[in-house]
Amino acid sequence: MAYRNLGSQTAEIDIKICERNYQEKGIGRIALSMLIKHLFHSGYAKIVLETNLNNTRSQHVYEKLGFQKLRVNRNSWQNQLGAWESSVDYALTIDTFHDFAV
Ligand SMILES: CC(C)(COP(=O)(O)OP(=O)(O)OC[C@H]1O[C@@H](n2cnc3c(N)ncnc32)[C@H](O)[C@@H]1OP(=O)(O)O)[C@@H](O)C(=O)NCCC(=O)NCCS
Repeated sequence: MAYRNLGSQTAEIDIKICERNYQEKGIGRIALSMLIKHLFHSGYAKIVLETNLNNTRSQHVYEKLGFQKLRVNRNSWQNQLGAWESSVDYALTIDTFHDFAV
């Protein structure tokens, strides 16, 4: 996981569980909860992220955590093969945060 300070009390986060055997065991939502909780306690008011429109698993997990879908950016970037890809922007504030690390 990683986060970046975007200013204005906003952090952008990212996650990748590289070992497939460790995916879909509930680890992602717990690890994200721990990071998000730390960021809110550190003074961030908003957490944002971007994911691929095709990545329905990540969208499902982010929405369980309370992230709100802001917009879909259709054909917004080109992958390594030159194909256009679409992304989804999400944002989370503490009032809708569902903490899975309690
Ligand atoms: C996305 C990621 C962080 C999620 O973490 P995880 O530990 O695998 O996820 P969890 O086990 O906490 O939850 C998985 C959920 O997704 C659901 N799911 C699985 N495949 C799905 C799909 N194709 N579409 C929608 N939901 C799906 C599961 O049913 C489960 O939800 P449920 O508990 O409500 O049934 C992890 O899979 C990952 O790192 N993937 C590869 C990299 C990546 O996609 N990173 C995010 C880029 S922004």
